Amino acid sequence: MREAVSEAVSTVGAGVLGAGEVIYGDGGGMTPIAEEAARAARVLHPEDHRMPRPARRRVITVANQKGGVGKTTSTVNLAAALALHGARVLVVDLDPQGNASTALGVDHRSGVPSIYEVLIGELTLDQAAQVCDRSQDLLCVPATIDLAGAEIELVSMMNRESRLRQALSTEALDRLDVDYVLVDCPPSLGLLTLNAMVAAPEVLIPIQCEYYALEGLSQLLSNIGLVQSHLNPSLHVSTILLTMYDGRTKLADQVTHEVRNHFGDLVLRTVIPRSVKVSEAPGFGQTVLTYDPGSRGAMSYLDAAREFAMRAAVAERRTESAAASTTGDHG
Ligand SMILES: Nc1ncnc2c1ncn2[C@@H]1O[C@H](COP(=O)(O)OP(=O)(O)OP(=O)(O)O)[C@@H](O)[C@H]1O
Ligand SMILES: [Mg+2]
Repeated sequence: MREAVSEAVSTVGAGVLGAGEVIYGDGGGMTPIAEEAARAARVLHPEDHRMPRPARRRVITVANQKGGVGKTTSTVNLAAALALHGARVLVVDLDPQGNASTALGVDHRSGVPSIYEVLIGELTLDQAAQVCDRSQDLLCVPATIDLAGAEIELVSMMNRESRLRQALSTEALDRLDVDYVLVDCPPSLGLLTLNAMVAAPEVLIPIQCEYYALEGLSQLLSNIGLVQSHLNPSLHVSTILLTMYDGRTKLADQVTHEVRNHFGDLVLRTVIPRSVKVSEAPGFGQTVLTYDPGSRGAMSYLDAAREFAMRAAVAERRTESAAASTTGDHG
């Protein structure tokens, strides 16, 4: 299994970031109290700590066919953190469970314009998008229960695997004026997840810090490899996020260690702790960032979002300077 994972990683994740690069510090020499105070300030005073907006719009699929690993929680909280800190973000709820829509507090009763109508071609993406109450810069295309039948309906449709890609057209996204699109996938590798992988260049994989964490990953990675070879050459795993870390168990450390060994720099240094506040927030139609901004959960998602934004900005700068030096060589 390990070999399969390593091999698949080297295929799909290669070249995203250089090995051993330090992108984001973890507090350096600060005392724990000072570090916590600084983190709280970052949540509460976003104007002082804006994150870089990406040079180009980023479309990210959040996928893991394993259920309950933190896909939705990570999608909505990363999206909220990015939106709170200067970016404009669209969450596409591609899961018939509609959990992301619930967590963002958007209406997703049956009949509401949703991703279902977008996929079957009745509405454009911007027609189905709703602005979230708590942030003008956070938008959501909700999923209603109608999406439950979509996987079967799509089978007989033309371009069944690229309908989301068509919907995420430059024109529609320009109208929404978003910097990031995060697609929350259902816990399966069916046609909906396939649509998400065809629509996005980046995949973010949340991995829960528990015993079976790596189980099923080789299948996920080989599917990503297949989509990359046949349908979407730009698809790659850009980010792995460790979730629900419980510092009281040795197991969580072992899993963290093992995942970092396999995936190296693809893994964000920020780890999301298990936190009651994180699990309570969706019940109030909120992300943890607004539900309890001072909590460890909120701070960790803010840190993860910052790292996610910063490492892309660093990679972008590196590409630009390489291009500039190549031009210089020829000039
Ligand atoms: N950091 C955390 N601390 C505590 N609870 C968490 C944390 N992250 C997620 N949870 C809880 O774990 C459960 C699963 O999380 P989530 O719904 O985000 O997973 P998922 O991968 O989207 O699930 P599914 O596969 O069903 O779509 C939820 O009840 C959520 O509130
Ligand atoms: Mg989910």
